[in-house]
Formats: sequence, structure tokens, C-alpha cells
Amino acid sequence: MSDILQMQRLVKRYQRRGRDPVMAVSDLDLVLGRAGSVHGFLGPNGSGKTTTIRCALGLIRPTTGAVSVFGHDATTSFHAVADRVGAIVENPKMFPHFTGRKNLQLLARMAGIDKRRVEEVLEVVDLHERGDDTFTSYSLGMKQRLAIAGALLKDPDLLILDEPANGLDPAGIAEMRVLIREIAGQGKAIVVSSHQLGEIEQVCDDVTIIHNGVLVVTGTLADVQRHAGPDRIVATIDDRDAAIATLTANGMPAFPRPTAREFFVEVPSERSSEVNRVLATNGLYLSGLRAENASLEQAFLNLTGASQPPPPLLEADAAPPGGAAPPPTAPPPGPPDAAPPVPPTAPPVAPPAPPAAPPHPQEGDR
Ligand SMILES: Nc1ncnc2c1ncn2[C@@H]1O[C@H](COP(=O)(O)OP(=O)(O)OP(=O)(O)O)[C@@H](O)[C@H]1O
Ligand SMILES: [Mg+2]
Repeated sequence: MSDILQMQRLVKRYQRRGRDPVMAVSDLDLVLGRAGSVHGFLGPNGSGKTTTIRCALGLIRPTTGAVSVFGHDATTSFHAVADRVGAIVENPKMFPHFTGRKNLQLLARMAGIDKRRVEEVLEVVDLHERGDDTFTSYSLGMKQRLAIAGALLKDPDLLILDEPANGLDPAGIAEMRVLIREIAGQGKAIVVSSHQLGEIEQVCDDVTIIHNGVLVVTGTLADVQRHAGPDRIVATIDDRDAAIATLTANGMPAFPRPTAREFFVEVPSERSSEVNRVLATNGLYLSGLRAENASLEQAFLNLTGASQPPPPLLEADAAPPGGAAPPPTAPPPGPPDAAPPVPPTAPPVAPPAPPAAPPHPQEGDR
């Protein structure tokens, strides 16, 4: 089993003066990161991704539970592995009027890294040509890439990127995916967090989804996608009721979608021409037809029963210490085209839970 990043019964409760504490992470058992692979750490806004990452980097103390990085306790001895971990958490600070190259040279000097490494990392993130432009003149995508270059300076074995696709346009996100794959190709373990499940699934080998600070599912991308249900066909037609009745009578169960004139057929996309033929034979002509593939977003909706992310857990809602996490699979009333909820049976890769670690002293908000 990977020992790169492990969490055991991790709990993080933020105290708030005069208000109920926020239970950001609740009893999380996780194993993240494999050399040469990309692990997507996914969940809606407020689900606890950044909190978990900050615990893993020793930036905040867990309320209870244990986090280890390369076998070292992240809370007490992160320094022992700091050279092996590169990370970007939220917006990294750079000097706006210095060039990209100068910013990296300063970072390298502070970390005692040879200046020549700056040229190597500029090359990796494809900023070599623009290295002498000021940071302020960079696009958001270039700023993100420069930040990644900074995190790569020490040639880490583990790279943690918190929301690297945030704010990027589709082209920028695509570039980011290529870069992430390239870096993983150098043998590094990458953990990339995102609330944009659809954007990140294309780059992941492994996936962990959390929701309300609780583990929803973890496993290989293929394992997790299985929870989305089979591929199906989505079609558009004026006389939707007649089309649904005809297909269903012909052994191809069809159901309306919330969008007017749209319906879906519970058959794999290879049967598209059959769907078309049966309808045409009955004088029904489609104006649109496409395959809808199993997506992480659909898997998430099926596993949580959510139609949209709910608000974060307050302490009163949280699992009792040491108790089971709240079930993530409440059945949805759901839109008519929601696939039935599937219990989260993907084999979790998390280790068996050890006895809870003694609580750390409470901290205030940070
Ligand atoms: N310093 C803090 N003090 C109080 N509450 C906090 C603090 N930091 C985070 N929280 C709360 O903890 C919960 C989890 O937040 P966190 O930032 O970890 O989520 P996230 O998954 O990273 O969200 P996003 O996708 O928006 O970045 C949220 O309800 C958030 O409001
Ligand atoms: Mg975050």
C-alpha cells in the first residue's frame, strides 16, 4: 500500500468565536498518491479539500486523527519530508513587479537550490520564453504555471495542487491537464484537488470524492465511474411521449428528462441506430441523439443523492467521535432522469482505522 499520504480518522473542527464550530472534516480515512500517477481529490465547494490538504502539509493541526506523509507524522515532523513535497495551496504569493524568472530565483535562493534548476522548471511549465516578463503581465493560466514551477523547484516526489484549474478558461484547463500528466510522467505522485469533477476526471488515474467532510468514494477512476451507471443515449424529439412509449414497448426503456423534448434511453450507445430505426419505423423522427457517458459528476450525484452540494456540516450534524460517518447515500427524490442511487461499494483503499490519536490543543480560526 502507498505510504505517500495517509489520513486516519482525520477530524478538523474550526472553532468560531460566538458561533457554532464548523466540522470541516469528519473521520476521514484516506490514502492518496502513487508515484507516476495523478490522484484527483474532488468534492463540491466547502467539502473540506483545502482543510485536508492543509492538515497534510502540517499547516494546521487536525482536531483528532493522524496524517502521515512518506511515513512521517505531518503534524509533528513534516520538516523531515518537506524536501519531498511540493504544494500549491490557494493563491501562492509572488512579487508582482518582478519577472517570472526572478520570482523563481528568489524562491530557489531561499530554499538553497541551485539557480540552474529555475531554467529547468521554466522549461517544464513552458514559460521559458516568457520568463523575463513581469508577473503582473502574465495571464491567470501563466500565473498558475509559474506557481507550479515554484513547487517543482525542489524536485519533489509528491506534488499537491489545490484547485490548479480555478478560474481558467477551457483552453487553460486543457493546458493544465497536459502539464499535470507530463509531471506525473516524470514519476512524481500528484494529488490534485478540484470542485470541477468533469474537468479533472480526464487527467486522473485514481479518484477520491469527499462531501461535507466525509468520504464518499475512493478508488481507481474506472472503479469510481462505475457508480455513474451504464452509458446511455439522450435524444430529442417533438412527440416525446410517443417516442418513450414506442421504445419502451420495444424493450428499450426510455424516460423523460427535465429539458423539454429530451428523453433518455437506458441502452448503451452502440444501440443508437436501433433506437433511430424503431422510432422512424413508427413515423417518429429524432432531431437530436447523443451518447451520455458515465461521468464522475453522475457518480457523485448517485452516491450522495444530492442534486446540488448541501451546506457544510455543523457540529450538531457531525458523526460522534469514533462513530461511523453519516451515510452518504440518502436516496434522492431526484429528477426523473436521475439514475437510482448506488451504495458506495467501490473498495476503499483507505487503511483500517487505528485507535484515535489523542486530540491536539484546539486552535482558533486561521
Ligand atoms: N479558517 C476557517 N475558519 C472557519 N471555518 C473554516 C475555515 N476554513 C475553512 N472553513 C470551513 O470549513 C469547510 C471546508 O472548507 P474547505 O476550504 O476545506 O473546503 P474546500 O473543499 O476546499 O472548498 P472549495 O472547493 O470552496 O475550495 C467550509 O465550511 C469552510 O467554510
Ligand atoms: Mg479549497
